[in-house]
Amino acid sequence: MKNVLVTGGAGFIGANFVRYLLKTDPDMRIVNLDLLTYAGSPENLKDLPDPDRHVFVQGDICDAGLVDRLLADYGVDTIVHFAAETHVDRSILGPGAFVQTNVVGTFTLLDSARKAWLTEKRVDGPVRFHHISTDEVFGTLAPGEPAFDENTPYAPRSPYAASKAASDHLVRAYGITYSLPVTITNCSNNYGPYQFPEKLIPLMVANAASGQPLPVYGDGQQIRDWLHVEDHCEAIHLVLQKGQLGQTYLIGGDNQTPNLVIVNTLCEIMDELQPATAPHSDLIRFVADRPGHDRRYDVDTRKIKAELGWQPRHTFREGLLETVQWYLEHPDWVTAIRAQGGYQDWIDKNYAKR
Ligand SMILES: NC(=O)c1ccc[n+]([C@@H]2O[C@H](COP(=O)([O-])OP(=O)(O)OC[C@H]3O[C@@H](n4cnc5c(N)ncnc54)[C@H](O)[C@@H]3O)[C@@H](O)[C@H]2O)c1
Repeated sequence: MKNVLVTGGAGFIGANFVRYLLKTDPDMRIVNLDLLTYAGSPENLKDLPDPDRHVFVQGDICDAGLVDRLLADYGVDTIVHFAAETHVDRSILGPGAFVQTNVVGTFTLLDSARKAWLTEKRVDGPVRFHHISTDEVFGTLAPGEPAFDENTPYAPRSPYAASKAASDHLVRAYGITYSLPVTITNCSNNYGPYQFPEKLIPLMVANAASGQPLPVYGDGQQIRDWLHVEDHCEAIHLVLQKGQLGQTYLIGGDNQTPNLVIVNTLCEIMDELQPATAPHSDLIRFVADRPGHDRRYDVDTRKIKAELGWQPRHTFREGLLETVQWYLEHPDWVTAIRAQGGYQDWIDKNYAKR
């Protein structure tokens, strides 16, 4: 059995990953460390498959004593690190929390792993620190510029992206300086179930379902690549099994799409599923753009495909349809998770009409 510490496993991607591992890999026992900030919730961990292989611990990745104890008590040999502050808009209003969790928290985990695995040699057999990062560390692309790849220089432009870039640098430095066995993945925008409804897709679905405005930043022509969260989980699992130590892999869905096209597509899907309130596109409101808003991201995924044989399984349209259906079928989840985020205040403050 492998003993995996998943950090941030009550958030969007972390909770999907916990489910994915429990479902697909009987050799994994999971300790799930999550602070349960506004973005994480026990609601995301209900009805887990094979729950006896999962232990939840509420706590802070910046708490070195706690992390040391968990590594020792559970004989942790693998760390999969998702925990982070993740919303760019919140990083503009309050960057301190991003530096604390994303930089200091990652440092704390790395240093605990170094002590447990390299200094005290608590684990026989292979160990691995896998760090989850974002394509936003590479900055922004002009139209027609080639996609980011593993050799693209870092050029983060928001406090969120800068804090993630700093954490990537620390992970790489621990790999080189101390020979800590590390891997990093930088992924494009994820979508799927359990995403906090402040992010584009669940925000639009939740608002459209309740007849609230659909706020679109600026001209809505910001381009992102989109990947279904299950495809991301499968890629991470493959990197854990076969990824080369010290390497970075970019992950994406080959779905470059402008935000406004996503919003219109979601409205079309909503029109099909809830014709009584169509056309949902009447709810679209253009609002003032985010300061420093990156114009375009795109990722070159040839390395992970060639080296590890990974391929995304979901097509974007089908994945979006499934995702919209999931949010519509889980209105209680939407209500519960919104209630923990001071959500309406946040919307009122940040999505003022242009
Ligand atoms: N969502 C995306 O599209 C995307 C894309 C690429 C990379 N990523 C990266 O994937 C990871 C997960 O993203 P997500 O969208 O699931 O985030 P999320 O905001 O949904 O969840 C983050 C989780 O981390 C927990 N957390 C925050 N601070 C913590 C702390 N100090 N100690 C312990 N737990 C803490 C929260 O409670 C929450 O459960 C992040 O590292 C993010 O940078 C996300």
